[in-house]
This record gives sequence, C-alpha cells and structure tokens, in this order.
Amino acid sequence: MKILNFGSLNLDYVYQVEHFVQPGETLSALSQSVNCGGKGLNQSIALAKAGAEVYHAGCIGAGGERLARELAENGVDTSCLITVEDIQGNAVIQVDRSGENCILLFGGSNRDITPEMVRKVMERFEPGDYLVLQNEVSCLPEMVAEAKARGMKVVLNPSPFEESLLHLDFNAIAWLLVNEVEAEQISGKKDPDAAWQLIHGKYPGLSMVVTLGKEGAVCYTPEGRTEQKAYPSSVVDTTAAGDTFTGYFLTTLTEGMEIGECMRRASRAASISVSRAGAAVSIPGRQEVEKVLEDI
Ligand code: RIB
Repeated sequence: MKILNFGSLNLDYVYQVEHFVQPGETLSALSQSVNCGGKGLNQSIALAKAGAEVYHAGCIGAGGERLARELAENGVDTSCLITVEDIQGNAVIQVDRSGENCILLFGGSNRDITPEMVRKVMERFEPGDYLVLQNEVSCLPEMVAEAKARGMKVVLNPSPFEESLLHLDFNAIAWLLVNEVEAEQISGKKDPDAAWQLIHGKYPGLSMVVTLGKEGAVCYTPEGRTEQKAYPSSVVDTTAAGDTFTGYFLTTLTEGMEIGECMRRASRAASISVSRAGAAVSIPGRQEVEKVLEDI
C-alpha cells in the first residue's frame, strides 16, 4: 500500500510580528525567515516522519528546488514531482507573540497541475493505495475522479476552504480531515456532531476527523465516535500543527492501529509541532513522539 500526496509546495516567507498588520498600517517585523512549507509538503513530511511510504506529486517552479530537496531529505519519494516554468507557490505568514498566524497564499506553480499530469502520475498507483489532497493546487476534481476509477482511497483536507469544494464527488472520499470551521463550511452546522449527522446521512461510506484546537479532536466513523483531548504545550507557532496531525493520523491508520491510538499519536505530534517555530521544520520524528507518549 502506497500513499500519494498530490499537493502544494510553498516557500513560506515568515514574519514575526507584535500584532497582525491592520488595514492602512505599516508595521516593522521583529524577524524574518524563508522556510519550506505548503500544506502538501508539510503533510508529506509528516507522513514520512511518522513512518509511511509516501510519494509527493506537485509542481516545482523557479526558486523551488530547495523544496524538492527538503522532501527527499525527509524520506519522501520525489519521483512524481514535475518541473514547470512559473514562480514557486509561496505564502506570506505573520506569526504573533501568542503563536497564532495569518497566511496569505500565492498559488504560482501549485496551480499549474493539468489533467494530463494527473493521469500520468496516477498511472503508478493501484487499488487500495491512498491519495491525500488539500486545496492549494489545481485539478482536484480530476484527481478525485482518477482515484475513484483506480480504486484508491481518497483523504481530503479541504483547506483552505472554497465553495468550489462542495462540487467534488464526496462519494469518492474515504476520509475528511477538517477543523471545526471547515466542518461548518461543508455542512452548514456549527456543532461537529450535527455536522457529522448531516455528512454521514449523505455519504454513508465516509469517515471524518474534526480538529478543535485546544479542545482536542473528534473522529467519526460509521462504527462510532472517538474523542481525543489536546496535550498541553507552550505555543510558539501553530503553523503546520494540522498538517502534523494529518500525517501522524493517516500513517498510524494505514498501519492498522485502532482509532483511539491514531488520535493519541496525531494529537501528541501536533502538540510538539506547535511548541516550535516554522512549518515542515517543526514536525517531530516518530521516535520522539513515541518517547514522549511513554513518559506520560
Ligand atoms: O498549513 C500550513 C501551511 O499553509 C504553510 O506552510 C503555508 O505554506 C500554507 O500553505
């Protein structure tokens, strides 16, 4: 069983700020760094660090060579990456003193994926393989359709949310990984339990995890509901916490661990990630996660 993540690769321009810049305001940042990021890249690295066999597909544009290197150095198979003539996708991220962030995205090369590229990459995958998707690249409907035709299991993290996502074929999706805002945007229901009732009624084959920040996370499958508390952590930067959760949850799920254990490991890994600055660089390795779980 292989995991294909067809997702974004971003250069993250990160600015540490006293507060998020306001309309009309000019604000001096406290520090700046350029890091590897993108929900796609972060999730691939989290999957690989958690121990999965993961292939990352996506487009590398000008300036993006270090993103390909970062994936490879972290154990991700990069043979599905495609080089394009465009500027690399990027993000401007402000991080305030409390560790909260706000993110401005520019798609660039991430939006250059074509239906032809989708077909070519996905030829390499088989029934039972997983396809992991976020919403920072072009051609999501084609990816979902191709995965369905090939008997792959689709995992969708619909982030950032856009109305167009509602037109995807949700019958082809095995797992929906959302935060509480995205759960509401998809279902129209604020309460996660009510969101699940509605989604499960429409798509009975689907399972869902809702992450709730400091409140933890809850997993819904057709068999039942599993809650997980968040582990306390001193927050430095919340960037990529959700991506870390996704990588650890899916890896342990595909290893056959029971849902409660998948949630526990994912939640612990995310709590370590928020205690560190940066996106991909903040994702802990499996040994570290297992060690801190033993110490509890
Ligand atoms: O989830 C965090 C990521 O969102 C950042 O790395 C940034 O690139 C944006 O895609």
